[in-house]
Amino acid sequence: MNHFDVIIIGAGAAGLMCAATAGYRGRRVLVLDHANKPGKKILMSGGGRCNFTNLNSTPANFLSDNPHYCISALKRYTPQDFLELVERHGIEHEEKAAGQLFCRDSAKDILNLLLTECDWAGAEIRMKTSVDSVAEIETGYRLKTSSGELTCESLVMASGGLSIPTMGASGFGYDIARQFGLRLLPTRAGLVPFTLQPQLKERLAPISGVSCPVDVHCQNAHFREPMLVTHRGLSGPSMLQISSYWSPGDALSVNLLPDTNAREDLYALRKQKPQSTLAQYLMQHLPKRFAQAFNDINEWQGPLQAYKNSDLDTAGETLSRWQIKPSGTEGYRTAEVTLGGVDTRQLSSKTMAVLDKPSLYFIGEVVDVTGHLGGHNFQWAWASGVAAGNDA
Ligand code: FDA
Repeated sequence: MNHFDVIIIGAGAAGLMCAATAGYRGRRVLVLDHANKPGKKILMSGGGRCNFTNLNSTPANFLSDNPHYCISALKRYTPQDFLELVERHGIEHEEKAAGQLFCRDSAKDILNLLLTECDWAGAEIRMKTSVDSVAEIETGYRLKTSSGELTCESLVMASGGLSIPTMGASGFGYDIARQFGLRLLPTRAGLVPFTLQPQLKERLAPISGVSCPVDVHCQNAHFREPMLVTHRGLSGPSMLQISSYWSPGDALSVNLLPDTNAREDLYALRKQKPQSTLAQYLMQHLPKRFAQAFNDINEWQGPLQAYKNSDLDTAGETLSRWQIKPSGTEGYRTAEVTLGGVDTRQLSSKTMAVLDKPSLYFIGEVVDVTGHLGGHNFQWAWASGVAAGNDA
């Protein structure tokens, strides 16, 4: 009884979805995972309430070296499809920001949904099982595991990326890809807070916890969402989003007043209230503690009437294009996702199988498809899991 039609390595979002889908097709399915519990990342996601999809998800919400790859799977299993599943299980949910769907109660509801579906579909899940080696055999694959030798016809790698190693993340999916001669694209942490150079970090650390809406630009991307000052640097949705586009050495350009033209405002204010100060102007538009800290960082003093046009131009520029060179990111320790991974040019966009080895599949975060913040990463896990589950 150690032979299965399908073995899936990884009992996370993608692996469990794939297991249920293949199980419903009558396939004998086994999911293996080295962690003590399945779906750990689901449980910690969305602040414990799992942002399980995004109704506005489109391929434009994904980063990949091969941007067209994700289109087919996302089209064939949509946010609406997952929402219907959620509703069939009677899970209460709510829309937070536009399109972002969260559990009203707990992320446990989504994990229970997946485990129930696996149970109904007859898919077996074995936790605390490590895979020591995978070998190709005539009929499929032979796996040496901590629970003995297992064989299968189809092998699905759903072992995720490198983010949050304490939750069971490992590079095993990449090792298997390498073993079978697949190309890997360089991996790096995404959706991750920035760390700052010591000088700026020291100036901002005392106001950690302050948040303000900004428009941040880097490379050709920009995100207009809140920025959060932390005791290590900068976080919040805007910074997490742009971190996926940032490379070491890049500067971020932050518009602190995206709803106003700061330079024009300052010219008008100098005319109307020449005694007012830049600090007073900032207090009107930004959280007080941030306004004061930002004013001090820039050493803006005295009434506006003492400012020459060129000084106001510089102040306006600083407010609408504050240049920050992060020292780095917090890395995989806190990153929500891993960018890069298995190069999708070697995979079928219909089945997620390796093009010249159609019984070996790669799904979820281990492949080079990474979503924006807001439920897109789980949508990719569901869609790629279903695509492989319908074929494996
Ligand atoms: P996932 O990482 O979920 O699962 C991989 C599984 O493989 C794990 O169970 C692991 O133990 C197992 N594994 C790894 N190596 C193995 C080995 N060698 N042998 C056996 N098993 C092995 N996304 C979103 O859309 N909405 C959200 O709200 C959030 N929130 C969020 C918060 C935090 C803190 C994090 C870290 C991430 C998110 N995400 C998110 C991202 C989301 O969690 C992520 O994209 C999916 O979990 C990826 O699903 P996978 O199934 O591919 O990997």
